[in-house]
Amino acid sequence: MVPSLLAASLLFLAGVGPALGTPVSSTTKTCTDLEIPLTVTSTNIGFGLPKFTTDFDVANFIDTVSSRNTTTSDSVVAAPNNVTANYTISATFCKPKVLPAGRKNTVLLATHGLAFDRSYWDPALDKVKYSFVDAAVGRGYSVFYYDRLGVGKSSPVSGYVAQLFNQVAILTEITKRVKAGKYVGGKPDKVVLIGHSFGSTISLNTAVDNAGLADGLVLTGFSFNSTFLNAIGFVEAVAPRIAAAKQPSKWAGLDTGYLTSADIYSSVTSFFKAPDYSQAVAKYADATRTPFAITELITTGLISRPPYAFAGPVLLITGQYDFIFCTSDCDGALETPAAQIFGKATPFKAVSYPGAGHGLNLHLNAAGSFKQILDFVVLSGL
Ligand SMILES: *[C@@H]1O[C@H](CO)[C@@H](O)[C@H](O)[C@H]1NC(C)=O
Ligand SMILES: *[C@@H]1O[C@H](CO)[C@@H](O)[C@H](O)[C@H]1NC(C)=O
Ligand SMILES: *[C@@H]1O[C@H](CO)[C@@H](O)[C@H](O)[C@H]1NC(C)=O
Ligand SMILES: *[C@@H]1O[C@H](CO)[C@@H](O)[C@H](O)[C@H]1NC(C)=O
Repeated sequence: MVPSLLAASLLFLAGVGPALGTPVSSTTKTCTDLEIPLTVTSTNIGFGLPKFTTDFDVANFIDTVSSRNTTTSDSVVAAPNNVTANYTISATFCKPKVLPAGRKNTVLLATHGLAFDRSYWDPALDKVKYSFVDAAVGRGYSVFYYDRLGVGKSSPVSGYVAQLFNQVAILTEITKRVKAGKYVGGKPDKVVLIGHSFGSTISLNTAVDNAGLADGLVLTGFSFNSTFLNAIGFVEAVAPRIAAAKQPSKWAGLDTGYLTSADIYSSVTSFFKAPDYSQAVAKYADATRTPFAITELITTGLISRPPYAFAGPVLLITGQYDFIFCTSDCDGALETPAAQIFGKATPFKAVSYPGAGHGLNLHLNAAGSFKQILDFVVLSGL
């Protein structure tokens, strides 16, 4: 999207997030933890306001970014710079112990959204209900999932630096290596990018900006329909606060560019839909959430310019009650304009997934959404 659409496209997907350290107990999967050094170059935007000192400055940011005067709202983004940096990305690769007969050797490469770490895909909760990794491995797919730059065990970086563009450069490099067989025990037949929320923006731009790189794309907790987007409502509901000041015991090491939601209820408003979730899961997500960078927040909606030539299978699946992307009603809201901008995709499918809000993987029927995703992947030959 062009910068003048910034305010309308601001989507922050945070609020809640599972922690690291999932024990590998399954008898059907083999998992390996990886530390991946890489050098990436990206064209990074700057933050247009003075760095935050206190939450009064964050309050002023919310006023500024939500202004209907686009000159004002766009002022939060400053001119871009080309930046080259070395980072280490921490990842986990899980594969089935036995590849089922007839199944291709396919890697699902998963990118989490804001306020989560990689364990979004395999939380320390009932695995049958909430683990996408276990569901995928159970169907014969490998999953490569990682902590985004600035999150979890990946390189720490300023909250005025982490953003869509360096995250896309990182996923692009990782995808190239995985496609070449590095980290995954040899060249896979197919690589499918899957994202949640901000992770969907990262996966999308990586797939459409690099022809032939990804074989398929699964976007969850996402939409292209700006009419129903609730970006500013989302920022207001989350009511961000400086993370280091809010919970110094956990986040004192982060600079003031890292923000987190005001409290569990502000997270729940954006991420969960009653009665379709367990409050224990919402509490777990709150206890394990990770802060997000202000420059991630203001670049979340900056998707590459459509229409896309991407010709592989594309699935867009979002909770029916997604507060952020559909203003709490995704029915009939996902296909337009997604089907047009993915006019070359074969097939393209959009699903408003019943009984879930934005945090798709943490609702009571998450396993049903995993099944829909994996059925799509199987049926489209990936
Ligand atoms: C709106 O933007 C214009 C520039 O286009 C600026 O001159 C004006 O002061 C702004 N008004 C407000 C209320 O921010
Ligand atoms: C960044 O590098 C690209 C490619 O070399 C160049 O076209 C572009 O002008 C550079 N942008 C900035 C802001 O320096
Ligand atoms: C990245 O690491 C390489 C090898 O250690 C070093 O030569 C280079 O200067 C580093 N680049 C940056 C931008 O720090
Ligand atoms: C959003 O979806 C509605 C319902 O299908 C449609 O009328 C509207 O044009 C869409 N908005 C955009 C920007 O495509």
